[in-house]
Order: sequence, then C-alpha cells, then structure tokens
Amino acid sequence: EKEDELRAYERRREVISNLPVENGWRNITGRLYHGFWFHEPRLYGVLSLRRNFRPAPSDIFLATCPKSGTTWLKALAFVICNRGSSYMSSSSTGHHSILSHNPHDFYPNLENFYANSHVPDLDSMPSPRLLATHIPYSLLPESVGDEGSPCRIIYLCREPKDTLVSTYHFLNGVGSDPSIAGPISMEEAVELFCKGQSPYGPVWEHQLEYWRESQRRPDKVLFLKYEEMKAEPEATVRMLANFMRRPFSEEEESNGTVAEIVELCSFKSLSGLEVNKVGVRVNGFGLAMKNSLFFRKGKVGDWREHLSPMMAEKVDAVTKEKLHGTGLSH
Ligand code: A3P
Repeated sequence: EKEDELRAYERRREVISNLPVENGWRNITGRLYHGFWFHEPRLYGVLSLRRNFRPAPSDIFLATCPKSGTTWLKALAFVICNRGSSYMSSSSTGHHSILSHNPHDFYPNLENFYANSHVPDLDSMPSPRLLATHIPYSLLPESVGDEGSPCRIIYLCREPKDTLVSTYHFLNGVGSDPSIAGPISMEEAVELFCKGQSPYGPVWEHQLEYWRESQRRPDKVLFLKYEEMKAEPEATVRMLANFMRRPFSEEEESNGTVAEIVELCSFKSLSGLEVNKVGVRVNGFGLAMKNSLFFRKGKVGDWREHLSPMMAEKVDAVTKEKLHGTGLSH
C-alpha cells in the first residue's frame, strides 16, 4: 500500500509539473489547476485528498477562500461544537482552551495534511469531524461534493476588495523563505487579484461555486458572508449551531451563552490573547508564521485605507462582471 502511495505521489508530481506555471504572488500562486491558482506544495495535498479522503456522514467542512475570516469561523465552530464539554461551560470560559490556542491549532488545513506521500489517519478525530479547507467546491473529493453526499459544508466569503487587502498584508508579512519571492506592491497585487491569480483564486469563481451549491442544497451547504457575521454575530452563531446540529437550549438562550460565544471569539478577544500575540506556528510546509498575522484589523471596508479610487474601481468592475446575474452580491 505504501508503494502504491509512493507511485501515486510520483504521478502527482508529473501531473503538477505539466501544469501552467507563473511566479504570481511571491510564488505562492504558482500553478493553475482546473481554473484555480495554487501554491504548488498544497496542490499535492489537493490531489492526494481527492484520491484518498474517506468521508464520514457526519463530516462538516469549513470552507473559505484564504483571508475571508477562516480563523474566526474556526474559533466559532470549535466553541459551538465543544460547549458543554470540559472545554467550556457558560460559567467557565476562563478555562476555555480557545484562550490558550490559536484556532488553527484545532483544525489545520485539510489539504496540508495530505501534501506528502503519506496518507493521514483522520479516523481518530471526534465526531463530527470539523475539516477546514480552501479547496474550491469543484475540486473537493467527489464523495464530499456529490449530490447525495451527507457531508455538510459551511462556506464563508468576504467582499473581494477587503479580501485582496487582507491577502496583500498577509502574504507580504509571511517571513522570508528561499521558496518565496520578495514582497510585492499593491499595484501588482491588484493586477494579479483581478486576473484571478490570488491563492485558490479567482476569488469570484471560488465564491460562486459554493454559492450555487448552497442554492441547490441549502440543507447541506451553508453560505455565510463576513460582513453579515460582523453585523449580526449572534444570529450567525445561532445559524451555525443549528446547522451543526448543536442548537442552543432554552437554558442557554436565557443564560447568555450566545453572547458569551460571540465575545469569546471576537477579534478583540482573540487578538489580545498571549498565544496570538507572541505565538509562532510552522505551517505544513515548514514556513514559520507569527500567529499575530492572522489578526490584523478585522474590519469591514478597510480597503478604503489601502486602495486608490482607481484600484477599487478596477476590482469592483471585475466583481460586477463576474457576479452579474448570479444572485450573489457584495
Ligand atoms: P484583515 O486582514 O482585514 O484584518 P483568514 O482567517 O481567512 O486568514 O482571514 C484573516 C482576516 O480575518 C483578517 O482580516 C483578520 O484580521 C480577520 N479576523 C481574524 N480573526 C477575526 C475575528 N475573530 N473576527 C473578525 N475578523 C477576524
């Protein structure tokens, strides 16, 4: 079996080496696969995941395009799912493990797990397994995205200009490494973003695929917007809890649990934690990043501080064109 997997890995290497390649965003958007741009090491994970992933009916995917609020969604999902366990009771948030961990510690990105020749064993994860991914809907393993699949998906999207600005700061903030090129300018970032060349981009296609599926199968795909979460965090937390089949009891509704979760996972709370201020993590590919990189401003409309009117217009024009007539808007 191990040899099989090694051979499969070699085949993946060959497939990937024949794909269109561009330096793109610090080399991080290097390869084009089925219409989406990937950081090459992660693409190994995407291909392996498609071949090797075995779903469980209770699986819940947390899907996002990078920089759309993944960290926040992971925190909320973790806290909602684990309330009532030793992790948290409404009177003991002081001991909640979210206070001493970065939310990415709980759910590392799924495709990163699969990025080498070794197939990870996810069977020991507690049920429901919460599985985080940036993979576009059309490239999820068939067993997950199929019409009849029992797996549920929570997708979080964000307004493209804010996603772009967040991506710009994040990618330029990632430390130096021989495999990645130097920082790029905002002009270059806008150019690449509008061509679709952002990590897992084009961002519009990414959003639209999940959007369409959420319209077709609303019981299986929950589509959230960052801006709506910011505006109505309590409603979002209830929606998430219902979708995850962990609805709030009457007692929880009356004792303020929902507000407590919103507060616990707020930008202010998470970004102020020691672990997120000084902690450093090494991603699946050996690249060190500060946990604080995942917490910049957490604001809606921050693009105004960073994009010239012309840049904003350019992104808006592409957004308008791509989303026209789809029912999705920002
Ligand atoms: P900004 O760069 O605009 O501040 P991701 O988690 O997908 O990498 O997205 C990161 C973005 O989410 C960053 O946006 C970050 O500040 C914001 N973010 C992180 N934690 C958050 C929270 N608890 N509430 C709201 N936004 C948060």
